[in-house]
Amino acid sequence: MSKALDGVRILDFTHVQSGPTCTQLLAWFGADVIKVERAGAGDITREQLRDIPDVDSLYFTMLNHNKRSVTIDTKNPEGKQVLEALIQKCDVLVENFAPGALDRMGFTWERIQELNPRMIVASVKGFGPGPYEDCKVYENVAQCAGGAASTTGFDDGPPVVTGAQIGDSGTGLHLALGIVTALYQRTHSGRGQRVLAAMQDGVLNLCRVKLRDQQRLERTGVMKEYPQYPNGEFGEAVPRAGNASGGGQPGWILKCKGWETDPNAYIYFITQAPVWAKICNVIGKEEWATDPNYATPAARLPHLKDIFAEIERWTMTKTKFEAMQILNKYDIPCGPILSMKEIAEEPSLRKTGTIVEVDHPTRGKYLTVGNPIKLSDSPTEVTRSPLLGEHTDEVMAELGYSPEQVSALRTAGAI
Ligand code: COA
Repeated sequence: MSKALDGVRILDFTHVQSGPTCTQLLAWFGADVIKVERAGAGDITREQLRDIPDVDSLYFTMLNHNKRSVTIDTKNPEGKQVLEALIQKCDVLVENFAPGALDRMGFTWERIQELNPRMIVASVKGFGPGPYEDCKVYENVAQCAGGAASTTGFDDGPPVVTGAQIGDSGTGLHLALGIVTALYQRTHSGRGQRVLAAMQDGVLNLCRVKLRDQQRLERTGVMKEYPQYPNGEFGEAVPRAGNASGGGQPGWILKCKGWETDPNAYIYFITQAPVWAKICNVIGKEEWATDPNYATPAARLPHLKDIFAEIERWTMTKTKFEAMQILNKYDIPCGPILSMKEIAEEPSLRKTGTIVEVDHPTRGKYLTVGNPIKLSDSPTEVTRSPLLGEHTDEVMAELGYSPEQVSALRTAGAI
């Protein structure tokens, strides 16, 4: 069966997490992704957080499926020529080096255009143009600079970063959209273009609702769905909202049976207005359905804390899965707090290919997250990540180099 991006060749100059997540998605959609790595060393994540000595780490294998690996020393003059040949053959160059690194290598936008005017050059950087544009950036820096950390956590505690890699993987996702959009424009413009996804911008895009709230706060001085209302003080900036839902339907995380020993025996509970009467029935507070202090969303806002405490008295008598089963019968929106162990063992996620078991020649079997985006006409088959330089000879042959030339370049340290 054909794939959506069949025939698209990607020169993958990415490393660590943000860039590799982007090119992995493109590979899952069918692009031929050729990962260029430093001869002898490779992507630094190959050896980071290793769980098996001398074997590519899960950090690397889980971000580089379905790619080919070639090793080229791009600072070696002959290595540069190989890279030039690749630029001429590929449709997209994706990179997430520190600012200026590609230029220092001699591959400025102008030079790349000379070599291949149809080339799309896509970059992840920490910041867009401005005071921080030269900074190196990792995940949590972006979470902090993009507004996520200042709005995450509890009011009486410090800013908190989230486990979801919204700075790295989130920006990779943004970049992938930019790349396919540029590929589409190229079908009628015939030209390549530059695509930039700055990590600060990507995080801010995901924190859009918090900029919404900043303006609401400035206009009204109060936000009634926040836990600070009605007992706390609002300052000048959007406060940390704990586990509040952030939308028009109040929600909170509540303890379930077993919470004393299981750190994940909790459920997210949403007091959605249309099912309020059902909630009252389930928790045994039927009178709240008609009591003017509780009957309407506006009436409930001042005492959400007490309401959730009452609901929790009920959830604590059920496991999170029992509570889910009961609440779902009444269409009451809720969600169990799932541990990574529970997610890894969840059969339905295996069935859809969201969790996949992959075999690797030196590591053996391991679990990975498959393609979260499902296309009906472009199925994803997750294949293992490449060993360092595994495809150098194959790709060199495709570029027209003879075995003798390859061997000479290897001796010269260019590949
Ligand atoms: N052959 C020879 N040299 C190579 C090479 C190759 N195949 N591949 C990379 N290099 C060189 C680069 O040219 C660069 O050299 P220079 O500093 O002399 O110009 C050098 O390797 C290191 O690149 P750099 O990107 O600076 O790596 P770093 O480990 O110091 O920094 C980051 C890592 C992630 C902080 C940085 O790349 C960055 O800020 N990237 C943009 C934001 C980003 O993606 N962050 C999230 C990462 S998950």
